[in-house]
Amino acid sequence: MRIVCIGGGPAGLYFALLMKKQHPEHQVTVVERNRPFDTFGWGVVFSDATMQSMRQWDPATAETIEDAFNHWDDIELVFKGRKIRTTGHGFVGIGRKKMLNILQERCIELGVELVFETDVQGDQDFPDADLIISSDGVNSRIRHKYADIFKPDMVMRPNRYIWLGTDKRFDAFTFDFQRTEHGWFQAHIYRFDDNTSTFIVETTDEVFKAHGIDQMDQDQSIAFCERLFAGTLDGHKLMTNARHLRGSAWLNFGRLICDKWSHFNGQSHVVLMGDSAHTAHFAIGSGTKLAIDDAIELTRQFDLIGHDKASIPAVLSAYEEVRRVDVARIQNAARNAMEWFEVVGTRYADTLEPEQFMYSMLTRSQRISHENLRLRDKDWLEGFERWFAERAGVSPAPNGSVPPPMFTPFSIRGMTLKNRIVMSPMAMYSATDGMPDDFHLVHIGARAMGGAALVFPEMTCVSPDARITPGCLGLWNDEQAQAFKRMVEFVHQKTPAKIGIQIGHAGRKGATRVPWEGIDQPVEQGGWPLISASALPYLRHSDMPREMTREDMDRVLADFVSATERARDLGFDILELHAAHGYLLSSFLSPLTNLRDDEYGGSHENRARYPLEVFRAIREVWPEDKPISVRLSTHDWYEGGNTPEDAAIFAKMFKDAGADMIDCSSGQVVKEEQPVYGRLFQTPFSDKIRNEIQVPTIAVGAISEADHANSIIAAGRADLCAVARPHLADPAFVLHEAAKIGYDEQEWPKQYRSGRQQYVTNLQRAQQAAAPAGKA
Ligand SMILES: Cc1cc2nc3c(=O)[nH]c(=O)nc-3n(C[C@H](O)[C@H](O)[C@H](O)COP(=O)(O)OP(=O)(O)OC[C@H]3O[C@@H](n4cnc5c(N)ncnc54)[C@H](O)[C@@H]3O)c2cc1C
Ligand SMILES: Cc1cc2nc3c(=O)[nH]c(=O)nc-3n(C[C@H](O)[C@H](O)[C@H](O)COP(=O)(O)O)c2cc1C
Repeated sequence: MRIVCIGGGPAGLYFALLMKKQHPEHQVTVVERNRPFDTFGWGVVFSDATMQSMRQWDPATAETIEDAFNHWDDIELVFKGRKIRTTGHGFVGIGRKKMLNILQERCIELGVELVFETDVQGDQDFPDADLIISSDGVNSRIRHKYADIFKPDMVMRPNRYIWLGTDKRFDAFTFDFQRTEHGWFQAHIYRFDDNTSTFIVETTDEVFKAHGIDQMDQDQSIAFCERLFAGTLDGHKLMTNARHLRGSAWLNFGRLICDKWSHFNGQSHVVLMGDSAHTAHFAIGSGTKLAIDDAIELTRQFDLIGHDKASIPAVLSAYEEVRRVDVARIQNAARNAMEWFEVVGTRYADTLEPEQFMYSMLTRSQRISHENLRLRDKDWLEGFERWFAERAGVSPAPNGSVPPPMFTPFSIRGMTLKNRIVMSPMAMYSATDGMPDDFHLVHIGARAMGGAALVFPEMTCVSPDARITPGCLGLWNDEQAQAFKRMVEFVHQKTPAKIGIQIGHAGRKGATRVPWEGIDQPVEQGGWPLISASALPYLRHSDMPREMTREDMDRVLADFVSATERARDLGFDILELHAAHGYLLSSFLSPLTNLRDDEYGGSHENRARYPLEVFRAIREVWPEDKPISVRLSTHDWYEGGNTPEDAAIFAKMFKDAGADMIDCSSGQVVKEEQPVYGRLFQTPFSDKIRNEIQVPTIAVGAISEADHANSIIAAGRADLCAVARPHLADPAFVLHEAAKIGYDEQEWPKQYRSGRQQYVTNLQRAQQAAAPAGKA
């Protein structure tokens, strides 16, 4: 085979040398437009995992690279006049130049043909090639040429950055945050050889322009950065090696995804590799790793499937299939980390204290969790836990121990919760005429004994026609209030938990069957007329709701008020107003379901007008010393619908009206929604609202273990975590999670204490059995 790699970056060179090494009979050429040993860029960082695969595939290169590596464990934060350091992070850094030189030399040794100073115009330059690797970087000419086939999706990110170097030798991966009169700048700094460190400076476009950097030349903007980071640079200079770039040399990062990675041009197969196929933001330093892993995978597929011409199509398709998964995973983590740096100035830097700021930064990709931080640097994490606990009003025990973040108390108005876990409201569809019965008592009672600090029964409807199904709970008459009394008294008298009530109105999603008889399907008999912000059915065949008149609004508002009064008299500890999931109040907030042209439709202010009227009316009758939370769909997951930006606007309006907390759910507004599920998938919305609007939040959605909750609470992404389905699977969810992370101070109901010891012993046995052989 004749193989040509267009572009001699890490992807092209590493693939060339691996392929030549595995199959010397093939003719492999790398064509690079730069001169040999001439390259842009400073140092890049690598993880141990990448080195391990490199060692396996070509020990010779791996060894030389390892000899040239700079290894360091520490991360240092420079912030608000403080320096905070943690260890155990294990990075290696190497000069990009150095690494390419090693790869070039190894290519020559193995017989790869290296052609320099040749600017390739396109794949047609190599008509005799069987396989053309488009390893020509993020601005790939080949990818542009076949854009209609590869369908690249490039999103230019808003932040500006400049990639510089300095001869100051940093001994930790250093993040330096500096505030100017216009906003925040951050530097990502790491040493990569004996004398040089990479120094990337980043800021938002607004701050960049406010300082007039767009009008500066490179020398001026470097001088600006030197002044800004003078404290960290200690008299050292910043250097550029991007003299070829015009203007100030500040760039925007482009996030690239391609629909397809390979194409047959009639003569040769063309395949994308490295940055020409995908990019990962430098915030997690994985671009080179992805390029190297691509090269390894393509070689591996040739080994597996066959390295003759006939096998090329199968090899390319297997390569793409395998790599897509890993690339998506890394891009996901890189996106979280990148977004953190995009919003850090407006969201965290002004408000978080250095300790929590450090925690938030370390967990920015959401791939590093609380327990993972403990493995990396136990002392630092324990110090942080003490700091966090003290902020929550907990003094250390005589032995110095404190509860982990999720087990610290939380107070709001006059309510104090003993930990941060809430059992999220979940409709059970098991009531008759809205009446709670023994099922509800046992269901809620068991979970209140199971360790959650606060339990919410399901959405409780404010009138018979406010129900989703005939099986929903209600609080519109005294008989129902009497039945709820047992539940509230049980929780208050027999458990340490608090009990809240979520009140709501189903709106256009009402009069449906219980889910096990057909989710969202209209009831066949005994239905009721529906009302909504606008006359739009939920499903095409759902009953058509009537657009609410002012009279309807007055009636429903009065129903909300009288349910609130009943809840107040019953002694519920917190009230939640359900304004999410496409139900009545949510139908006003979303532009997808609110098409009104009166003062209740159109702008954010208009759409929120009625939900806020309801909120203010219930706040009036709800006790002053008790909190009210509002549940919002913080993302409609559908084009034209509300996004987290809109949700933040609504959150601010509710906060200004006196809401104490925003419960950040999402979706269920329109059936056609396209949510992106995943671990903690709604937590970023809570993070945004809490830290931008400065209102306490409840995070919910796929939070299923203590490690998740600890990370969320510790980083300040929410004040409470609501856990729903895990509480269906396990009423004692919190007791069990405490045992799993070895938190011994969690009280069990006194009647159940003997079960605790056995549970802990069984856990330990299971952990020992799962431990690798020889370690038991
Ligand atoms: C500021 C910044 C910091 C980074 N930090 C890190 C980090 O810490 N860790 C990390 O892993 N990654 C990092 N990266 C990413 C990393 O640089 C890239 O992901 C990686 O180099 C991709 O390798 P590649 O071989 O695909 O492309 P490239 O390295 O871009 O190589 C492409 C090559 O093709 C050549 N070429 C292009 N067009 C032609 C043509 N028409 N004819 C001939 N030759 C051509 C170019 O000259 C170049 O040598 C960083 C990137 C940036 C911008
Ligand atoms: C069976 C069931 C019923 C639910 N009913 C309600 C409800 O009445 N009110 C509400 O706001 N959310 C309701 N939800 C949503 C949950 O409160 C929660 O937001 C969602 O399940 C995500 O959390 P999880 O991943 O921990 O399950 C319900 C969820 C389930 C599974």
